[in-house]
Amino acid sequence: MPALTRIALAAFAGLLLAGCNTGPDPAQQKAALAAFDTVKQVFQHPRCQNCHIPGDAPLQFDAGLPHSMGVVRGTTGHGAEGLPCSSCHGEANPPDSYGPHAPPGAPHWALPPPQRRMVTIGLSAAALCRMIQDKNENGGRDFAALLKHVSEDKLVLWGWNPGGERTPVPVPHAEFVAKFKRWADAGGPCPAS
Ligand code: HEC
Ligand code: HEC
Repeated sequence: MPALTRIALAAFAGLLLAGCNTGPDPAQQKAALAAFDTVKQVFQHPRCQNCHIPGDAPLQFDAGLPHSMGVVRGTTGHGAEGLPCSSCHGEANPPDSYGPHAPPGAPHWALPPPQRRMVTIGLSAAALCRMIQDKNENGGRDFAALLKHVSEDKLVLWGWNPGGERTPVPVPHAEFVAKFKRWADAGGPCPAS
């Protein structure tokens, strides 16, 4: 067989194979979109979105009020040089005897850096879905790294143990991770805007 014919045949076979690949499984996509509803509910819970904000001061409480004491993001997200988050926020929540308004704590307590603010507050489902998986915004994380982050990151886990009288994220953590995985495994489909 002349080489050109062989190439043409191979290309044709490739087209046939591509034709057999029917694309994303509709049932899987539908389940993934439903799972994303739960993901959105968690990402936009006050315990999460109070740090994932466009402005320069973290927010507080379920009402998302500006943080008191003039706290700001600073050049790295860890606060102003003279008043870093760590001057008040420790590695863990203080004991209950400190009262409900003591600063809560978790390792690396900070806002995302000003160059990558990872804003989740106020986004539509479609915009949030795109932001989470946009490597220019999410710190270069692929789905595996994102899954690890939502499973293990200490600031994420704090949302289920926020201390004081703060409302924890209502969706159980294991359910949130399972839904995140279902959505990610389907390639992270986004709802129509
Ligand atoms: C105290 C502030 C704070 C809280 C509370 C917080 N985060 Fe974050 N979040 C951060 C910081 C800081 C980063 C890391 C920035 C970086 O990559 O350097 C981050 C990164 C992320 C990322 C990876 C990047 C992205 O945007 O895709 C995800 C996902 C995330 N957070 C989800 C959550 C969820 C879900 C909760 C609540 C359960 C939460 N965060 C609560 C500060 C916070
Ligand atoms: C001068 C002390 C101080 C500094 C500095 C400080 N905080 Fe706080 N922060 C507090 C206190 C106190 C609370 C609890 C307030 C309450 O519950 O009444 C708090 C609460 C919070 C909350 C809880 C929000 C919620 O879900 O209700 C977040 C988020 C937060 N701080 C982020 C930060 C970040 C990020 C920084 C650094 C950029 C920072 N804080 C710097 C004292 C501080």
